[in-house]
Formats: sequence, C-alpha cells, structure tokens
Amino acid sequence: MTIDFVLNGKPQKTQIRSGDRLVYVLQKLGDFPSLIPDCLGGNCGRCLVFMDGRLIYSCLTPAFKAKGSSIVTYEGFSATEDCKDIIYGLKQASAFPCNFCRKAKIMMIADLLKRIPLPEETDIMEQMSIVSCPCTDPVSLAKAVLLSAECRNKRKFKRADK
Ligand code: FES
Ligand code: FES
Repeated sequence: MTIDFVLNGKPQKTQIRSGDRLVYVLQKLGDFPSLIPDCLGGNCGRCLVFMDGRLIYSCLTPAFKAKGSSIVTYEGFSATEDCKDIIYGLKQASAFPCNFCRKAKIMMIADLLKRIPLPEETDIMEQMSIVSCPCTDPVSLAKAVLLSAECRNKRKFKRADK
C-alpha cells in the first residue's frame, strides 16, 4: 500500500508492506543518524520520534499508522529552540549522555517538558524509564531536566511578554 505523511516538515509518499516497522520505513526516506534501531523492543529509545506531537518508539509502530500524520525525528527537532534549551540544561548539569543514548534522552526530555513544563521529581523519574541507560547518574539528569525547564520557560515567558 502507499501512504502519505509529513516527515520533518516535508511531504512524503511511500510504498509499505503490511508488517513493516515504521523505523525501517523512515530510514529509507533519508539520512537519519538518530534512528539506529537496536533492541526493537521499546527499551533503548534509539528509534524515538514524535508522531503528531506524541513521542513513540518507531520500532514498535506499524508503518501504516504513519498515514496522514506528521513525524519529527531528532534531526528535525534539533533545529528548534526547545532542543537548544535541553542541550543547555544537560551541559550546565554536567549530565551530557554518551553517544549511545544522547539523542534519545533529548527527545525524552523534550516530550516531558512539552507535557509538563514544570516537572516534579516523580515526573522526571517516570519519564526516564523511556530510555534504558546504564551510564547516566539519575540525579544529574534530573538536575539537567530542571535547568532545561527553567531555560525553556524563561524564553517562552519573555516571548509571551512582548
Ligand atoms: S529500537 Fe526501538 S526502543 Fe530500541
Ligand atoms: S547509554 Fe551512555 S549515557 Fe546512556
């Protein structure tokens, strides 16, 4: 079957087979270094994308579900001010994740701050389970999330004030 959707702002039309996983369909449509499917089971987060604003594991999502949707990969998200706020928070908290999960963590934090602009510690801990990561200290990561939130809220508040 043929499906249409928008990928990082560009319209796409592609052929899929029933049973195709979305992550593999996306990989064929462009150069997306953030998509490195690893576990194929909703653990590593190396396939996270936003679909209509909702964070999803594209390894677990059937490709047909993309029909008519708008998808944003890390490559699309990284051009936004929201992404810069998160990178700032991670650097300030000295919690920059290693290359294995860095992009997945940034997407995970972006999702949290979009849903809960001022997250509590419990919200942050719950969200962290989206990306399984053996090497980041959860305390520094939580600090990074709060610093990112502060930076994001200041920026949005100033803009709203003008
Ligand atoms: S490849 Fe999708 S969560 Fe690991
Ligand atoms: S796997 Fe290294 S920081 Fe997450």
